[in-house]
Amino acid sequence: MVKLFIDLLSYLRECAPLFVSLAVLTLFFVLLAKSIHKHPGWYYTLFAIPFVLVALPTVGRLFGIEIAGFVRVPFLGEIIRDYIHMGTFGHPLLIIIMYIGALNVRHTPVKRLMSIRKEMSIIVGFAVFAHSLIRVMGSVPGAFRFFADNEGYLASTRVVSTVGAGFSSFSFLLGILMLIIFIPLWVTSFDAVRKRMGNARWKKWQKWSYVLYATLFIHAMGIQIGGILNPRGGHAAAKPAVEVTANVEERAEGRGQRGSENARPANANSNRQTSQAAKPANSGRTPTKGFADFKPSAQTKQYIHLVSLLLIYGSYLYLRLRKMRKRAFRDGRKPLEGRSRY
Ligand code: HEM
Repeated sequence: MVKLFIDLLSYLRECAPLFVSLAVLTLFFVLLAKSIHKHPGWYYTLFAIPFVLVALPTVGRLFGIEIAGFVRVPFLGEIIRDYIHMGTFGHPLLIIIMYIGALNVRHTPVKRLMSIRKEMSIIVGFAVFAHSLIRVMGSVPGAFRFFADNEGYLASTRVVSTVGAGFSSFSFLLGILMLIIFIPLWVTSFDAVRKRMGNARWKKWQKWSYVLYATLFIHAMGIQIGGILNPRGGHAAAKPAVEVTANVEERAEGRGQRGSENARPANANSNRQTSQAAKPANSGRTPTKGFADFKPSAQTKQYIHLVSLLLIYGSYLYLRLRKMRKRAFRDGRKPLEGRSRY
């Protein structure tokens, strides 16, 4: 029974990693809400460590100093990769922060999460900065070249679909705008800055978070659509699994990245799956049937991820608008009348 449950969980994680990470992180933050609220400094330090480990080799390289990448360190490397790719930590946490504003705080779990919304916003910043640092150095130059020197880009990059490369490149460049919006929102999450600004000005600034959510959706969708239209390796034969795995680590450190070639499959696990597929068959033993036998292809996973994004952001929009209408109705105003959301 326990094995079946674990199998089911890892199967769901393989197919719909965003939903599973969302569930796990929600539980984590609901359970630890009191502790995080009491000792925010500890948690900031803990969650900042992967960011520092990502930043060190990158900043070192800028100054011509070679610092060994930490992505190869067992366990810690996995956490660092999550910070870079945003898939199982940064993105779900941003979604939780976004969703709390659309839910009813009278429910205990929502109330708990609301009490640490500021702390979660500060924590997610470390993952966003790690992601942006690597991506600005690795993906932005190629994306810029796609628009500035399209012919040169297409001649030097293995691209199957120009439209796909356009989607990816646009989404990468949109990342810069997102970073520009994110930085002030992040800085103003700190109490000291908020106090200095005053409540009215702070609330005005916070409205930019809606622009961030919208761009987040476009960024994620664009990268996925670009990845589907333009799968890694293009029309060429797939690379041997070992080489692919090595490339993940190299890419994670920001080396050898070019434009749409970065359009990662829906989750980094697909590369791990490829390397597992290359292992020799389990000779001699009769294979047991379980969830693990139904492995979806990388493309199926990308479609599942697209649908997950549509469901998550679509239901957020629905809930947010419903809450605004309810509040407007309660206050005796017309729905959607311009007013502060907080
Ligand atoms: C600064 C320029 C940026 C670039 C070039 C960029 C590029 C990328 C790329 C290549 C991916 C695919 C996954 C990966 O391999 O990491 C990605 C995913 C993602 N990025 Fe960015 N990014 C940027 C900034 C940002 C910022 C500032 C945020 C958030 C505020 C953000 C949020 C995300 C999220 C949530 C995903 C995961 C999407 C999903 O789950 O499908 N990115 N980004």
